[in-house]
Amino acid sequence: MNPNSSKPETKYRKDYTPPSHLIDNIDLYIELGETITHVTSQMQMRMNPETEKTDALILNGADQTLQSVKLNNELLKTNQYVLDSEHLTLKNLPDSFTLEIKSDIKPQKNTSLMGLYKSNDLFCTQCEAEGFRKITYFLDRPDVLSHFTTTITADKKRYPILLSNGNLIDSGNLSDGLHWMKWEDPFLKPCYLFAMVAGDLDYIEDYYETQSHRKITLRIFALKKDIDQCQYAMSSLKKAMQWDEEKFGLACDLDTFMIVAMPDFNMGAMENKGLNIFNTKYVFAKPNTATDLNYRNIDSVVGHEYFHNWTGNRVTCRDWFQISLKEGLTRFRDQIFSEDIGSKAVDRICEAQSFRTIQFSEDAGPLAHPIRPESYVEINNFYTATVYEKGAEVIRMIYTLLGQENFRKGMDLYFERHDGCAVTCDDFVQAMEDASNIDLSQFRLWYSQAGTPELSVSDRYDAEKKCYTLTVKQYCPPTPNQPEKLPMFIPLSIGLLNPKSNNEISQTLHIKQEKETFTFDNIPHKPIPSLLRNFSAPIKLKYDYADKDLAFLMAHDSDPFARWEAGQVYAKKIILGAENSSFTAPSDFISALKAILSDKNTDKHLLAQMLTLPSEIYLGETMDVIDVDAIHHARQFVKKTLAEKLTSDFTSLYEDNASQKPYHYSTKEMGQRALKNTCLDYLMALEDESIYDLCLAQFNQTDNMTDKFAALTYLANTDCPHADEALATFYQDYKNDPLVIDKWFQVQAESNLPDTINRMQVLLNHPDFDIKQPNRVYASLWAFSKNNPTNFHIITGEGYRLLGKQILRLNKINPHVAARLLKTFVNWRRFNTERQNLICEQLDRILNEPNLAKDLYEIASKAL
Ligand code: BES
Ligand code: ZN
Repeated sequence: MNPNSSKPETKYRKDYTPPSHLIDNIDLYIELGETITHVTSQMQMRMNPETEKTDALILNGADQTLQSVKLNNELLKTNQYVLDSEHLTLKNLPDSFTLEIKSDIKPQKNTSLMGLYKSNDLFCTQCEAEGFRKITYFLDRPDVLSHFTTTITADKKRYPILLSNGNLIDSGNLSDGLHWMKWEDPFLKPCYLFAMVAGDLDYIEDYYETQSHRKITLRIFALKKDIDQCQYAMSSLKKAMQWDEEKFGLACDLDTFMIVAMPDFNMGAMENKGLNIFNTKYVFAKPNTATDLNYRNIDSVVGHEYFHNWTGNRVTCRDWFQISLKEGLTRFRDQIFSEDIGSKAVDRICEAQSFRTIQFSEDAGPLAHPIRPESYVEINNFYTATVYEKGAEVIRMIYTLLGQENFRKGMDLYFERHDGCAVTCDDFVQAMEDASNIDLSQFRLWYSQAGTPELSVSDRYDAEKKCYTLTVKQYCPPTPNQPEKLPMFIPLSIGLLNPKSNNEISQTLHIKQEKETFTFDNIPHKPIPSLLRNFSAPIKLKYDYADKDLAFLMAHDSDPFARWEAGQVYAKKIILGAENSSFTAPSDFISALKAILSDKNTDKHLLAQMLTLPSEIYLGETMDVIDVDAIHHARQFVKKTLAEKLTSDFTSLYEDNASQKPYHYSTKEMGQRALKNTCLDYLMALEDESIYDLCLAQFNQTDNMTDKFAALTYLANTDCPHADEALATFYQDYKNDPLVIDKWFQVQAESNLPDTINRMQVLLNHPDFDIKQPNRVYASLWAFSKNNPTNFHIITGEGYRLLGKQILRLNKINPHVAARLLKTFVNWRRFNTERQNLICEQLDRILNEPNLAKDLYEIASKAL
């Protein structure tokens, strides 16, 4: 840390105090200029009757030039207020008053993409979590709810479209080619939900009619060249609106609901009231440029942001320690929405899969925190897998424990009590508890205790008494600041399979103590336990399965998650066992795969998942010391062996699932493509010229990006001349489409070929690489450092140095994106000493940087 800069301050949840003042109304005037933008804010304020009287008001503000302050229409002299780089402080204030503040900002110079910024000739805002303070001085905290009107003035030719939250209430022309539009948001909102957009945008329009026959106008805005790619997102929005009414009785409360697609955006998307702003990658889709996964993501992200309108906007967070209140809950809502409109089983497996790699590793490292954190330095660092994904799992456990009906009652009560308010996670749990009469006191530990609980299960069968017992022990390893853990309340869904008949017992066990025994009577044969069905809790499960039982579960488990997981556990045993011995695939495993390959009844997407070996990252996550090279070689070796043993099965399944029909996105066809491409992936492991040709033919001949990108991925991971040919063609064909060029960067950054580190250097010097574009940074640096273990962790340290250097560049440009990249370094303790030293060198290098952003300081200092 630079000795000259002071240590950034830590904020604690326990220190929460209500705001000293309330801002009932704010009229914002934003005059957009080519270098300077003038902002005038007129606020009606009063002391907060709920707090002790104070006549001092401390407003947040940053990166702006204050021009004037008027109190009750009187211009203040500079000695009547105190200004520092982060605050404007006023004293001797009456109980209620008006305040007018004028300041200047420079959106064109704002590369952080927080607050008001400009890119691609569009003005755009991102205010969550603390971006509004970069637009004007304000009480920038989520528990201050205000009525907003916004008047935007800009050049009419360059910026014909001017948008803000709510309804357009007036507009007009001015001299010098300027025009203005005035928007009013009828709902009170915290300033983090404020948004404005200006530019030469086009839009598509549709409408949605609520169950009570209110007609809502829906608009999606994008640059003219992209407007033909917004139809699918519109259909997602309508599906989401209908689903929320049917499932939760929640209807849209607005007359117009708008989405704007922004090419340069830090996040995926943002739920600003009535004016969602989206990263283009979660809006645009057409068959020849978007993959099935892109389509699927559009449904879930559009759903997510729309669902925030109730869970987040109508009921918001009291303070930023409560983000999981809106993010965990809304993530859960978007998950069950996607499960309902797609395939439940496949979605659940994907969720569990990414959860176990990303969240488990966060929970096991120096940044582990509860879903409701106790402290933070930079709140932007806390939009984590723990807050979102574990937060969603915690809500899902409540759903499992209460049942659908009681959960719905709990949601209804939550809205009845808290609509229009800023509340806490505890308010949510209280509503669930009161509506269901189910005691959640122990369950609340999920909000305060970090770390991943481990359940060890053992069993015993008494043939004489026909009695089966399961013993469950729980343990949670220590995490930073939490050396001791209390036992958690864990719903463990299980099945007991009778190997001799189709009968099975299924139920959810309530695990509450450190050690518990469950007895099952009248069990005719020793059952095979199917454990943690549907991934019923975000925990690690240990049970010592015999291989033949895993093979049995792979074939017969009625729970798709557990069926898939049996295959993963089996494959993991094989791969980690194959590490240094000569390898022959167990015949049980081969026959189990053979059965999957000829299964005509199961969802094809599920079959594709069952055929896919556990990822290198997941395998690494389960090891004490992650040996990236050994994992890679063992996994490749097993994959090749399986391909050799099952060549004809993979070949015929590939052929059977090749479709001649034009591309159509549907759950069924997506499954078929996934299965076909999984087969091709195996066949590519054979290192056979004719398969390379087949893969290149698929690349060249397909009409859709799903099959093209799959083929490109397999080629880019193969040492064959076809690879460069395909990459060159791909670039030529799509060089004008940034989202597809992102894929081109990504596929190279993720390649496991040994020269990838050099290729990364080439990519970073490519004319199309622009460090100011978050999507390009994610497609290259993020993809490389997160998804390419062998090359990122190359023993020379080149991968680490490359990332370290780019993080330092980004420190000055976009600390938010830099901090997300920096998180890859925090689990350095998981590697061998040589790698540990090399990673720590980079962490030191970053900590020694003068003017280090607090985002980076927080992560690097906690990591060491
Ligand atoms: N409210 C967030 C966006 C956000 C995150 C703003 C962090 C500021 C800081 C939004 O609702 C969100 O969660 N977006 C996700 C996508 C979602 C589908 C999980 C994102 O942007 O990644
Ligand atoms: Zn969200």
